[in-house]
Amino acid sequence: VKPDHTRLIKEIQRSMVKVPPPRKLKKFLDNYIVGQESGKKVMSVAVYNHYLRINDKARKLAKRLKEEQQRDDDSIYTLSNSVEPSNKSPEEITFSLDQEDEDLELSKSNILLLGPSGSGKTLIAKTLARVLNVPFSITDCTQLTQAGYIGEDVELCIERLLVNSDYNVDRAEKGIVVLDEVDKLAKPSSSIGTKDVSGEGVQQALLKLIEGTTVQVQVKRPVNKDKDSQNNTTVAKKTETFHVDTSNILFVLMGAFVGLDKHVLKRITSNDLGKTVDSATNKHTICQIDLEDGRTVGALSLVNPQDLTSYGMIPELVGRVPIISSLDSLDETDLLSILTEPKNALLMQYQYIFEQFGVKLVVTNKALSKISELALREGTGARGLRGIMERLLLNVNYECPDSGIQYVLVNSETVDTIDSGDIDTKYYARGDIFHLIEDVLEEDKALGGKLQDELNIKVNDEKS
Ligand SMILES: Nc1ncnc2c1ncn2[C@@H]1O[C@H](COP(=O)(O)OP(=O)(O)O)[C@@H](O)[C@H]1O
Ligand SMILES: [Mg+2]
Repeated sequence: VKPDHTRLIKEIQRSMVKVPPPRKLKKFLDNYIVGQESGKKVMSVAVYNHYLRINDKARKLAKRLKEEQQRDDDSIYTLSNSVEPSNKSPEEITFSLDQEDEDLELSKSNILLLGPSGSGKTLIAKTLARVLNVPFSITDCTQLTQAGYIGEDVELCIERLLVNSDYNVDRAEKGIVVLDEVDKLAKPSSSIGTKDVSGEGVQQALLKLIEGTTVQVQVKRPVNKDKDSQNNTTVAKKTETFHVDTSNILFVLMGAFVGLDKHVLKRITSNDLGKTVDSATNKHTICQIDLEDGRTVGALSLVNPQDLTSYGMIPELVGRVPIISSLDSLDETDLLSILTEPKNALLMQYQYIFEQFGVKLVVTNKALSKISELALREGTGARGLRGIMERLLLNVNYECPDSGIQYVLVNSETVDTIDSGDIDTKYYARGDIFHLIEDVLEEDKALGGKLQDELNIKVNDEKS
């Protein structure tokens, strides 16, 4: 019987991940992520190349199948039969690729993304996954332990990926797995000789997964919804076993690696490659280094594998993650931009919520600057911004709905009173619009002007 690959070939072609060029990926990231130019670039290129490689593999497989089909040869049957889409093993694919000797096998490039807390690591990964439309899972490494010990096995990340791809193994096998807080797996230098099941043991367990292996995962999958006698919906769960090949999964390791900059600094200065600018930085900022060529860079941008192993990562794991990129700590200007500039920026989100209950939220530029200043002092990157906004607006959010208040102003005085029990937010009823505009103009001419245009009124601003 002559094998018919038509369906299989179509399936392979359909399953290819459409991946925009790196410049487009970066542009998409720019919409959401402030700063971090080099991090966004490295990630865009790495992700692009990863899917290029997967698609290349698939294309070659499809080409081979087509050729086979054209050849009028029964003996092919046995070979082709072994490359069904659902149970293709990497060896079989590699085997079929190797037959074309012009073939060049591209090797997988996993990524390590370093950067202080709240600098946008997770946000970059999530945003990329969204534009690529591939399944994605984030697993916090601190919850993992070596198999056989209390805690989760490393396979948890694959299990989650499978759930996020709606139990579609083919899709899961092309997904992105983020291993967050991987720095917490570093073995302390004091642990030499002792058994370290949550640190080094997990690093060992991750090796195989990252390199490519077939893992067996058992998940409880919701199968059918029934109504019980009280008419409540019950979801039956059935345990199913899946086999997921991890060799095409892109692994992105992330971590803050607090203190790694000191390792880098030590190496750089002891080799006379540069010197530190201000070593007396506070614990939230990263050492800056003056290089011989005159540039000043954050120490993390100079990280090499050696630094990572001296930090406590095992060399084998570092060796499987060839791309290292780092994000910078965000400065006050970045934080200010994050409040207003990205798509779905924080300020827009609050304004949208307030709109839902009929209140226009007005925040002056001076207030925004002060919020950024406060967030910078907290040292949790952009994460601090949300907390400050919440604190500022909690009361307003409590008082305003259904109260006749139509406008709320947050100005610099409001932010100055954030630590008092009585935050000085200004409320205006519908008829108070002129007062609102006067108060805004006092601190923010541009915003005042914009408001007047928007509301189609003119206030005489005698103070100007
Ligand atoms: N560079 C950035 N641009 C825009 N928003 C950011 C940036 N960095 C952080 N944020 C904001 O802070 C939040 C936390 O950032 P996240 O990416 O989770 O930090 P981490 O680097 O610790 O993973 C994000 O959800 C986002 O709102
Ligand atoms: Mg994170």
